[in-house]
Amino acid sequence: MAKDKTIYTCNACGGSTPRWLGKCPNCGAWNSLIESVPEAASGGKNRLSAPQGYAGLANAQPVTPLSAIEAQDVARTPSGIEELDRVLGGGVVEGGVVLIGGDPGIGKSTLLLQAMDALQRAGLPTLYVTGEESGAQVALRSRRLGIDGSQVNLLAEIQLEKILATVEATQPAVVVIDSIQTTYSDQLTSAPGSVAQVRECAAHLTRMAKGTGVTVILVGHVTKEGALAGPRVLEHMVDTVLYFEGDTHSPHRLVRAIKNRFGAVNEIGVFAMTEKGLKGVSNPSAIFLSQHTEPVPGSCVMVTLEGTRPLLVEIQALVDSAGPAPRRLSVGLDKDRLAMLLAVLNRHAGVACADQDVFVNAVGGVRINEPAADLAVMLSITSSLRGKPLPKGFFAFGEVGLAGEVRPAPRGQDRLKEAAKLGFTVAVVPKANAPKKAIAGLTIHAVERVDEAMQVVRGLD
Ligand code: TYD
Ligand code: MG
Repeated sequence: MAKDKTIYTCNACGGSTPRWLGKCPNCGAWNSLIESVPEAASGGKNRLSAPQGYAGLANAQPVTPLSAIEAQDVARTPSGIEELDRVLGGGVVEGGVVLIGGDPGIGKSTLLLQAMDALQRAGLPTLYVTGEESGAQVALRSRRLGIDGSQVNLLAEIQLEKILATVEATQPAVVVIDSIQTTYSDQLTSAPGSVAQVRECAAHLTRMAKGTGVTVILVGHVTKEGALAGPRVLEHMVDTVLYFEGDTHSPHRLVRAIKNRFGAVNEIGVFAMTEKGLKGVSNPSAIFLSQHTEPVPGSCVMVTLEGTRPLLVEIQALVDSAGPAPRRLSVGLDKDRLAMLLAVLNRHAGVACADQDVFVNAVGGVRINEPAADLAVMLSITSSLRGKPLPKGFFAFGEVGLAGEVRPAPRGQDRLKEAAKLGFTVAVVPKANAPKKAIAGLTIHAVERVDEAMQVVRGLD
């Protein structure tokens, strides 16, 4: 069978060529041509100068004032896995497309198999399309999960057209594609996993979801840099983007909503990987603390607020004398922000690290994106530099500005209360976060500037 002709479209200017070229002949951009299927030309050559005008098309879709459109709440089906429903905003949505990304081996297939089984039990017909593993491998996993009696339909297939045909024939309510990178369409000649294939397949599956009301869940791989492999356009196409986080060596996993058209973002679900799959952790606030029997230098606990729940996370720093090119390394925290904090420390608190290697780590593989971590990062760095531990039961949070000021973190009271509940006793927090009424068992030092925070800590030695 002759393949349909494909064209190569430039990412930068939108121009197209019939062959792949290193340089776009239209705009001169390098490496920007991506294979795609040409749109079927309709309506003759000069579509824009249609002599009869567009009158014939105007009635195709009537315009409606917004007020006349009934706002319907989307129908959701909870998956029964509470932590997953929390990030999804209550459950899977009819016709919704969810992209779930994460490192290999972190538990994407495990979680989705558990979720599909729960949905199937709730009465939704489900289809699990596996392109990475054979049916037997999935069956083996289901036995491990204790759901080997499951009625989830399985399809081991990677060709998009066959998957679409199966969906049409079996009419499931929820389809999992594991993974989008293994799926390919025979309309394109590029290899599976290439940008062109990933984009094309995701677009077809999205169109299918919107057209039929089937919920589609796509599994996506993450590159070494932590971005979803394939084009960013994937994130724009889908309704919900979830990321798996966590260290594969530790049992805890976070599922974070990065984008959600049907719910709140930055809500997280917390799981523990056990012998029998992923189990939700409903009270996660203390799982990211490492258990030191005695306080050690270079460690400072912070309270981060993820979605609706505060989490206590230990920040560790190691400052060590360096060679001519000192290194700055951070795991789970923004590297540029670390450089900025070191500059602020030097300038506004007189703590110089210019000739030192600085390593910073958020314990347990969490990623902390909020600036409220700043103060804890700084205090762990100075603690390591001085070789003096922070006192037992100590924690801190607050954003630090370039002028050396300490800015408040949102919902400070909730953070303080959670820490107090877990037995923490001393805190350095931004002045604006200091509670009006004392919290039992908690000594609070409110600070406005970085040097003030350093002084308070020295006074606690
Ligand atoms: P998996 O879901 O295959 O990861 P992904 O699809 O994201 O690549 O997870 C595989 C890991 O999870 C593997 O290292 C084994 C572990 N695991 C358990 O610890 N317990 C279990 O019950 C299962 C099914 C997997
Ligand atoms: Mg997998």
